[in-house]
Amino acid sequence: MSFLAFTTSAKTEVSSNMKKVVNGAIAATGLTASYILYQDSQSAQAMTAAEHGLHAPGFEWSHNGMFDTFDHASIRRGFHVYREVCAACHSLDRVAWRTLVGVSHTNSEVREMCEEFEYDDEPDDEGNPRKRPGKLADYIPGPYANEQAARAANQGALPPDLSLIVKARHGACDYIFALLTGYPDEPPAGVQLPPGANYNPYFPGGSIAMGRVLFDGLVEYDDEKEIRYQGFDLDHWFVLCVRLG
Ligand code: HEC
Repeated sequence: MSFLAFTTSAKTEVSSNMKKVVNGAIAATGLTASYILYQDSQSAQAMTAAEHGLHAPGFEWSHNGMFDTFDHASIRRGFHVYREVCAACHSLDRVAWRTLVGVSHTNSEVREMCEEFEYDDEPDDEGNPRKRPGKLADYIPGPYANEQAARAANQGALPPDLSLIVKARHGACDYIFALLTGYPDEPPAGVQLPPGANYNPYFPGGSIAMGRVLFDGLVEYDDEKEIRYQGFDLDHWFVLCVRLG
């Protein structure tokens, strides 16, 4: 689903409660299937708390309210965090550059960003492969050429594509935020981790290949707002958690 689908169709109140979304005006856009999966995942919980991971608390997301007043600046900051931090390891395969135009960035800003990347072009008359700069219709390129390269760079673990991650995880945004901000300084006493693994109580099983990536002041924004790791300045997650899903 694109940003635009949300902005044009969501005049009704849309909350993170999937049921309301499905009942609302945007039911036809593909959320129905993910809601059914979500329902399935609700019933498949015969695991212990440790296997399942800690239940993420409910955070106050600005998108739990009305969608027609969403904050362009926050989406911009969210994409900035993706580019500066997450894009080193995670792709956003299903998101085309044009999705950002008029939502978080101007047309010329997005053009500038996509032109920084080279894409395969039609071969020349002699069949030699050619490259061209990115266009708005292209999809945002991922950091690795293929899954093997991604695993090789991450001790065998695969950083999942983030385009649909919100829908794919029980707890959606709440889970992802809790996961990213929930790394304790030390694993609890007695917890044995495999080499290279990190402890995170929100990740099922507690042992996750992704280390802590967010720190206070890590990213600077062009609107001078700095990423705040703790607290309720969650707007920069907006883009990762809902808009691009
Ligand atoms: C240095 C590489 C790296 C960076 C940077 C990174 N990740 Fe990850 N991420 C990983 C790896 C590897 C995994 C797979 C973990 C596993 O399966 O144990 C992962 C897993 C995840 C998951 C899935 C967790 C689950 O439930 O399966 C989410 C969500 C995620 N990352 C979000 C992010 C976001 C958002 C950012 C940026 C703020 C980010 N990551 C930055 C490497 C990275």
